[in-house]
Amino acid sequence: MPQLAESSLNLASEFPILAQRPGGRPLVYLDAASTSQKPRAVLDAMNEHYSKHNANVHRGLYSIAREADAAYQHARARVAAFTGASERATIFTKNVTEAINLVAYAWGRANVGAGDAVLITQMEHHANVVPWQMLCREREATLRYLEVDERGEVSLEALDSELARGDVRLVAFAHVSNVLGTINPVAEMIVRAHAAGALVLIDGAQAVPHMPVDVGALDADFYGWTGHKALGPTGIGVLHGRTEILEQMPPFLTGGDMISSVDFFESSWNELPHKFEAGTPPIAEAVGLAAAVDFLSAIGMPRVRAHEQALTAYMLERLAEIPGLRIVGPPEAERRGGLASFTIEGMHAHDIAELADRAGVCLRAGHHCAQPLMRRLGVSATARASVAVHTEPSDIDALIAALHGAREVFGL
Ligand SMILES: Cc1ncc(COP(=O)(O)O)c(C=O)c1O
Repeated sequence: MPQLAESSLNLASEFPILAQRPGGRPLVYLDAASTSQKPRAVLDAMNEHYSKHNANVHRGLYSIAREADAAYQHARARVAAFTGASERATIFTKNVTEAINLVAYAWGRANVGAGDAVLITQMEHHANVVPWQMLCREREATLRYLEVDERGEVSLEALDSELARGDVRLVAFAHVSNVLGTINPVAEMIVRAHAAGALVLIDGAQAVPHMPVDVGALDADFYGWTGHKALGPTGIGVLHGRTEILEQMPPFLTGGDMISSVDFFESSWNELPHKFEAGTPPIAEAVGLAAAVDFLSAIGMPRVRAHEQALTAYMLERLAEIPGLRIVGPPEAERRGGLASFTIEGMHAHDIAELADRAGVCLRAGHHCAQPLMRRLGVSATARASVAVHTEPSDIDALIAALHGAREVFGL
């Protein structure tokens, strides 16, 4: 496959965990959509931070505290630059789930009321469903869904007709589906939502780690993503917001660091982004995430995307060899992120993943925190293989061999 050879990155040696050989076989990690493995650069950056510069931020008057402060600020600058956002409007959260909850609580409780609607799609992760269910129930607003069609896509015409009802305050959807792989036409969806006077929140958990994303150019009102899927550590996520909206919003979590002053019965809020970062922030995690985005930037996000798209095309082609295997989502690699969710007739998804594990292949199986979508697809679970910068064609070959082996175990 010349296309594969050209786009090959050969980065597995940068990921220490991949040097393991469980049962004497290479570790074939095809679960980056769940959480990514971490390159040595990220592990080293965090180790160096804890070994040499560890102190709390925003309050130290000694040298390592100033270094920690500088490291945290530098991390924000790197992360904001990676996605084309401003530093003031780049808030560190615990993960994308917390980023979405921040918007649902701080913006939603102040701006959504009876008679209003929040519009999401049937392909959302629970992180982009449950906060809106809670908001709509509490504020007597309506939650509506854009349908997912047979190809695993939503229609812009359906979006237009929902918006034409005139009550939609917010449209919230995934940039890339974690089950279908679908890359939504985000730019077009944002333009249409804005034309109808609605705000837009994008869940970029499966997009930012895998393709160029320019939050500034997209012009979304809120864009969230999660560090641990982007080669960074767990415990840190990002919310980019539109500055004017963030300034008007009340705080979400309250306490230390997010205040400008506190009196016995009144407090005033700190500047952005600190207003939304209550308590000691994830300092070492920010340092790790900055190292992760630097690692990705050094490769170049267009190359990351080209590599993963070529692997996805190869994976789709090879999966088609397995009898009884059905892939959900768009059939074309260029319309999907680097993952494939599938069922195999006669086998439960958990059995597929368990038997793949015996061959050293790590897959995800279950509802992928997208139970409404599973209902829409008429399945209880799927198995999912997902790729990352370290994935090579040999990993896909190992997957295919493992699936043939699993079918044999089941006598299929
Ligand atoms: C599309 C999408 N949104 C949200 C999440 C939640 O991410 P986190 O658990 O890091 O908040 C995930 C994780 O699987 C995801 O794939």
